[in-house]
Amino acid sequence: MFSPSSFVIALCLRVIYALNGPAADLVTSLPGLSETPNFQHYSGYLQAAQGKYLHYWFVESQNNPSTDPVVLWLNGGPGCSSMEGLLAENGPFHLHDDGTVYLNPYSWNLLANVLYVESPPGVGFSYSTTGNYQTSDPQVAEDNYNALLDFFNKFPSFTSNDFYVFAESYGGIYAPTLSKLIASSSANINFKGMGVGNGMTSYTINDNSLVYFGYYHGLIGNSLWNEINQYCCSSGTCNFDSNSNSNCQNAVYNALYLIQDIGLNIYNVYALCYGGAGAQSRYTADMSNLFRHYRFKFQDQVDVSVPGDPRCFNGTALYVWLNNPNVRAALHIPTSVQSWELCSSTVGSLYQRTYSDMTPFYQYLLQQNLRLLVYNGDVDMACNFLGAEWFVEALNQSVVNQYGPWYYNNQIAGYVKQYENITFLTVKGAGHMVPQYKPAAALQMFKNYLSNSY
Ligand SMILES: *[C@@H]1O[C@H](CO)[C@@H](O)[C@H](O)[C@H]1NC(C)=O
Ligand SMILES: *[C@@H]1O[C@H](CO)[C@@H](O)[C@H](O)[C@H]1NC(C)=O
Ligand SMILES: *[C@@H]1O[C@H](CO)[C@@H](O)[C@H](O)[C@H]1NC(C)=O
Repeated sequence: MFSPSSFVIALCLRVIYALNGPAADLVTSLPGLSETPNFQHYSGYLQAAQGKYLHYWFVESQNNPSTDPVVLWLNGGPGCSSMEGLLAENGPFHLHDDGTVYLNPYSWNLLANVLYVESPPGVGFSYSTTGNYQTSDPQVAEDNYNALLDFFNKFPSFTSNDFYVFAESYGGIYAPTLSKLIASSSANINFKGMGVGNGMTSYTINDNSLVYFGYYHGLIGNSLWNEINQYCCSSGTCNFDSNSNSNCQNAVYNALYLIQDIGLNIYNVYALCYGGAGAQSRYTADMSNLFRHYRFKFQDQVDVSVPGDPRCFNGTALYVWLNNPNVRAALHIPTSVQSWELCSSTVGSLYQRTYSDMTPFYQYLLQQNLRLLVYNGDVDMACNFLGAEWFVEALNQSVVNQYGPWYYNNQIAGYVKQYENITFLTVKGAGHMVPQYKPAAALQMFKNYLSNSY
């Protein structure tokens, strides 16, 4: 018998029983959000190892969750939270200054199911019951891999969807290491590819390219540039990064001082520095990614015990919202878990860097029938585009499409060069966090990547 009321009841039951994941993790309301999203989302914990729990927030696709890909998103640091990715980059929920939440019209979950994970333990709401927050590159990869298995365990209906790993910044280490574990495992994951945004790929290349970036963006004058060339280069080859010539080291120090130390926003040379030119928070952590051979000491290094905000970045809205007890409750964060921080200086300062050049990981992944993307906002100085371009070029893959523009809205949105199994792409005018600075172009790039057509 069919009646309108039984139809309504049937619909309700369908909604109740159509959950694709654990009911306990389903987020049913978000403080500050007045609209009702047209997709389901879950927040809870994934087990990375005994006693290690990573907070995840999984937002289903607004299009077709059952057939759209699943994409893992990781922010970097090391020690920074992927909640920044969700709430201020490519996620569906963004924050107004007054603490209200709005739906981001350029969210990547318009096209995919996106899994945001705070990694490693100690970052954001992720924790370890032992309280030991010392970790390393291979340990993070293993923890992330196990957490991913736990995700598919909790959400078995997504096992057959295409799966991609995307990561940003220090995630340039996390993504290829995790991807290698996935590709070499027998796990039932339909792994299709990896994207790295303004990622750390090689410290040497990142340092050497930064000096050129600085000179050609007008940050280093001619006389210093001449000095640098005189002392650091011979027969056309320059070594800015590990040169034993003390005149070279001195000249590089003076260049780095102009690029990094006098108040520019390292994440976007053309953006303002929030807090003004003197804002130095997380300064030591930023510097720790650059010119590691020299151990330069600038005078205004700060204590690592201060909250680890990226320099010149205003994280106030994130702190206020995520530390609201009602928000924590809505996201199923136990009261015993630490307060949320954008970047954990504990994790960052204890972190052991194992890999300095990701080439061997890329060489492995290039043989695995995967689609790789290395993309860079082209005005970032933390992991500048030129270094990424050199890194990809040096993989020696054959060229499929020569370097040329790609378009969004009939405007040049950046440049792209396609090689066999890997693409290098720039987003014109974007800083380090590409989806934050150029949300529409970033979404278009993501769409192009998924359809492999630029
Ligand atoms: C930082 O963000 C907060 C909250 O979003 C805002 O009220 C404040 O004006 C911002 N500060 C600066 C210097 O822009
Ligand atoms: C690209 O991947 C395919 C596997 O899909 C592999 O056969 C081929 O050798 C790879 N190409 C290069 C240049 O590595
Ligand atoms: C690429 O080719 C150059 C020149 O032949 C070689 O020195 C380099 O080792 C190659 N790189 C890789 C990753 O195979």
